[in-house]
Amino acid sequence: RRSARNMSTLPDVHHLPQLHSTLEQAKRFAAYRAVDENLDYLNHRVIGVGSGSTVIYVAERLGQYLLDPKYAVHASQFVCIPTGFQSKGLILTNGLRLGTIEQHPSLDIVFDGADEVDVNLQLIKGGGGCLFQEKLVSTSAAKFVVVADYRKRSPKYLGTNWVKGVPIEVVPTSYIRVLSDLKTKLKCKNAVLRQGAPAKAGPVVTDNCNFIIDADFGEIEHPEILHRDIKMLVGVVETGLFIDNASKAYFGNPDGSVDLR
Ligand code: 5RP
Repeated sequence: RRSARNMSTLPDVHHLPQLHSTLEQAKRFAAYRAVDENLDYLNHRVIGVGSGSTVIYVAERLGQYLLDPKYAVHASQFVCIPTGFQSKGLILTNGLRLGTIEQHPSLDIVFDGADEVDVNLQLIKGGGGCLFQEKLVSTSAAKFVVVADYRKRSPKYLGTNWVKGVPIEVVPTSYIRVLSDLKTKLKCKNAVLRQGAPAKAGPVVTDNCNFIIDADFGEIEHPEILHRDIKMLVGVVETGLFIDNASKAYFGNPDGSVDLR
């Protein structure tokens, strides 16, 4: 006979009350499936929790592991590493244990969103302005699983669906110089300093007290070269091009299906 401890009570995503939009549903389908298929609860201890609206459902699912009789003993050993202020909140509100990248410089796995994913699993990230810590955490993890909705899957190149440009984190005093270098040296079509809302609030300031520039290069055939060229500019801290970093991507669809890349 199976003991109560071995019985999983994890909610089936298809039987949960519907969310307010099919887009939100799609995000939740991707996140739950990504966690269930990639989390090795017996061996994974240090788990990165990224930023954005899809990761909300990753943290929700991890929290459910903590309450489940089958997984609780192991899940109580999880330490979650945030990629910014928002994900720190997600970790805490879902009852998960918070750690820092300084305490845990090597992670077992990270789950994070993306603004666009190309056919080679190269990514644009940083739509939420957390790109530096997202890159620090994801490049410190043995496995990086992307969770996204169907709009994020590019048919070929980056810059196809995500037309706002490549987010670039810069040291505040350098932003005029970087804006100019992007246009003159790297032939960027358009580059703007990201503004907060309302616009008069001034530039968006990152968790690291830097600014963000959104640089439109159109379709990006060679993201690894572009990333390197942008990083060479004085004042650039990090780019939102994530090269050869992701292991897998899950794209949720409104009908409950999930596509993998
Ligand atoms: C934040 C990010 C996010 O992961 C990215 O913008 C995707 O967000 P969402 O899940 O809301 O679509 O890179 O800097």
